[in-house]
Amino acid sequence: MSDKLYHECHEVISQGRAILEDLQQWGFESVIPLPDKEPVSAVDQLQQDVSTPHIPKSMAELETIVSGCSLCPLCEQRNKIVFGAGNPQARLVLVGEAPGREEDEKGYPFVGEAGKLLDKILLAMHLSREEVYICNVLKCRPPDNRDPQPDEIASCEPFLKQQLALIQPELIVTLGRFAAQELLKTKEPIGKLRGNWHEYEGIPLMPTFHPAYLLRNPSGKRPVWEDMKQVMQRLSHN
Ligand code: URA
Repeated sequence: MSDKLYHECHEVISQGRAILEDLQQWGFESVIPLPDKEPVSAVDQLQQDVSTPHIPKSMAELETIVSGCSLCPLCEQRNKIVFGAGNPQARLVLVGEAPGREEDEKGYPFVGEAGKLLDKILLAMHLSREEVYICNVLKCRPPDNRDPQPDEIASCEPFLKQQLALIQPELIVTLGRFAAQELLKTKEPIGKLRGNWHEYEGIPLMPTFHPAYLLRNPSGKRPVWEDMKQVMQRLSHN
């Protein structure tokens, strides 16, 4: 090593030591704490949080976490995440299946034809979208509106659970097979589940047919109305 380089190194080391001594006098124990683990992503954090009592403090905080989700391949084709919408203190939460094309474009649940029918059902129940909260089992659109796959449902499950934990509604209505089977952890067909009260985490849950099914099978409208009358009755008594 040349004399010049030796003196330069000596100078840098002396300066560094002086800075460290200064910092120690200021009470710093160590200067650059090295992480002992890989940093945890927000989504991983949420997955961990589901098994612990921690809950994001607000729906906005949860939505921020969900907005970066890449837990399943649906993230690759989505235009917008459809997180959910409505009153975060709603007495009633309605849970659908997954966003369709229009929902994926707008980032808002039930804005297509099925959504228009859902609006009519809510109107008949004397409820508005602003009063209730509407979300889906999946937050991203499955391609060509195919059925949600088990791995997609499993990836999205913590988000739905956290939404329900934050809202703590008095009642839940599930729309269609997937939402009922997911929240009730059953394989029972929707035809058997609907019309009867069930429970999700102590919250009364009424499964009913999906509005998209009603568009194809208008004869299902009457049983849905029977189910909704039961919901209205409970809401008026609580
Ligand atoms: N169908 C659903 O289940 N959810 C939507 O948001 C739209 C259509």
